[in-house]
Amino acid sequence: MKLSSNVGECIELLQEVRERTLALITDLNDEQLIGPRLSIVNPLRWEIGHVAWFQEYWVLRHLNRREPMLDDGDALYDSARVAHDTRWDLPLPSTLDTISYMQRVLDQVIQLYDREEPTEDAAYFLSLVLLHENMHAEAITSTRQTLGYAVPRLKVVDETARSHSNESNGDVRNHEPLTDAFGDTFVPGGTFVLGSTPGKHFVFDNEMSAHEVEVQPYAISRTAVTNVQYAAFIDGGGYDHQTLWDDEGWRWRESVGAKHPVYWRFTEGKWWRQNFDELVRLENYLPVLHINWFEADAFCRWAGRRLPTEVEWEVAARAEPTSDGRGIATCMRQFPWGDEMPTLDRANLDWREMGCLDVRSLPAGDSAFGCRQMIGNVWEWTTSDFLPYPGFVPGPYKEYSEPWFGNHKVLRGGCWATCSLLIRNTYRNFYTPDRRDVWAGFRTCALTA
Ligand code: AVJ
Ligand code: FE
Repeated sequence: MKLSSNVGECIELLQEVRERTLALITDLNDEQLIGPRLSIVNPLRWEIGHVAWFQEYWVLRHLNRREPMLDDGDALYDSARVAHDTRWDLPLPSTLDTISYMQRVLDQVIQLYDREEPTEDAAYFLSLVLLHENMHAEAITSTRQTLGYAVPRLKVVDETARSHSNESNGDVRNHEPLTDAFGDTFVPGGTFVLGSTPGKHFVFDNEMSAHEVEVQPYAISRTAVTNVQYAAFIDGGGYDHQTLWDDEGWRWRESVGAKHPVYWRFTEGKWWRQNFDELVRLENYLPVLHINWFEADAFCRWAGRRLPTEVEWEVAARAEPTSDGRGIATCMRQFPWGDEMPTLDRANLDWREMGCLDVRSLPAGDSAFGCRQMIGNVWEWTTSDFLPYPGFVPGPYKEYSEPWFGNHKVLRGGCWATCSLLIRNTYRNFYTPDRRDVWAGFRTCALTA
């Protein structure tokens, strides 16, 4: 799928993405669609209504001056207005009425834009609502994991790819051996242009303005940290030694009594992992997953490593070495492998595998510096706080970035449940450091280059 400024294509994408949103909840019963009041999830019946409300708000009401379709739409679905913990108490429409509201909004959007040539404004807001729905599709997928619901059943585009991966998930597939434990690659220092400039692609406000930064040389792991590496940290007493943890991180560890990643279980002398509603043997070479920032940070201290900054992450994904190998060439790849859209052999995205792949797989997706799977598979924590770039100006959807600056950490790269329309080398995701529900892992840097 390609995000296009052609509105006709954009309409098709809105329909495709909507099909997936519905497919992600269609097998759930009324009780599951409300679910328990947890700070890290939304009631799913609320979440799908919110997606439609957002589309109505920006495309029909803001852009086309239409009257609201629901009397109480803003009071129900505006996430900036409706406090999170009250979303379970709202007089939400029934599931059927919610789905019918979703369809009525989409139908009007289609009617308006099916034939018409795009104005720049229309392209901007159609992209915004499309990407927003994709973010919520990933969030719905996480919620299914958090609440132990069944593995989502989606109509997968490429059935052969899917069945192939089912047999070999966690096995060595399509890889070059990486022998060194961390398999570092060296990145020379230099001047790099961080962030995006709007052009043919939609750009979020927090990626602007693109600006020069100076980068010192560093060494970064070619792959994400694996389950087997993380298990060594646990065996080495990683969760028992306060000295390995950040102060706030230790307080978090004490308060929840964490002794291992949230979905790991140790029985019959072996590690198992809860995957949706199933218990599976822990796969050695899958990236460690559902790790929060504190856990990633403690692992690094134990291993004598550190998390990359978001600048280092972006350089490793996006830049090329100069021909003498001693500097960074000014190269602006959209993806680690170049500017072509993601394909099955380059990145694990779009729910195609319904889980993670071996960290050694997909060599075709390597960056110029030889980092693997920077796009897809798992989100990667960076050490950086989520802060505005110089010259930041909030976008029309003001609550997207600005309210969250300061107390969130930046994650990069997307995961298997991220849509390929959304993710690029410059995309910045952000969560508080205690969140273990995100499909997140990490890669590490050497302490000295
Ligand atoms: C960018 C994924 C952190 O889920 O809080 C959805 C995306 N913003 N609706 C979030 C978002 C508004 C956001 N993240
Ligand atoms: Fe939202």
